Amino acid sequence: MSGKIFVFDAYGTLLDVHAAIARYREAAGPDADRFSDLWRAKQLEYTWTLTLAGHYQDFWILTERALDFAFARFPSVDGGLKPKLLDAYFELGAFPDALPILTKLKHAGSGTAILSNGSPKMLSAAVKAGKLDNSLDAVLSVDTIRIYKPRSEVYELVIDHFECAPPDVVFISSNRWDVMGAAAFGFKPVWVNRAKNPDEYPDHPPVVTIPDLTSLPVSVA
Ligand code: LAC
Repeated sequence: MSGKIFVFDAYGTLLDVHAAIARYREAAGPDADRFSDLWRAKQLEYTWTLTLAGHYQDFWILTERALDFAFARFPSVDGGLKPKLLDAYFELGAFPDALPILTKLKHAGSGTAILSNGSPKMLSAAVKAGKLDNSLDAVLSVDTIRIYKPRSEVYELVIDHFECAPPDVVFISSNRWDVMGAAAFGFKPVWVNRAKNPDEYPDHPPVVTIPDLTSLPVSVA
């Protein structure tokens, strides 16, 4: 029983969500890391709360709203950085292990895709910037159904695209809550615990936990 289709979360897994602030760390000052953490936390919170309430705004709009909140919460960070941070987020840098693992999977004959909350424009810009486009069979965005992860309809997009069954899919995410959603759907989830976080969601464990993408097994039992 080995997975043939490898589907990756984008933000935090292939793309470094803290790469934007890293570029302007000096200008952002001593609250830079807390600012970036809050930016990310609010961005995700808005996806969950809107989806629970039955509403939708695309991920780019939520990214900008979350950034505005972070600026309001940390007045020490120069508000003039906003356009620069947004530009950097739009073409967010990929982790150094992203391209090598996608290339390896393609050479092994596996299917590869991104399944992300990101809007199609954001994903296309970041995939191009990270030179990941030639190694991906598909870039799937929640925007087509206007519902965010971890709703099952999102994971269903993979089934519709590849015409496969959930156990055929290895789903790789650094977001433990996304691993939970993928496990509940029936994918084989892999948790990339880049941040060395404690485990959670004990009812929906990953099939394997890895520290980064270099240790992703190309076949997951
Ligand atoms: C994504 C978010 C979860 O890329 O980071 O879907």
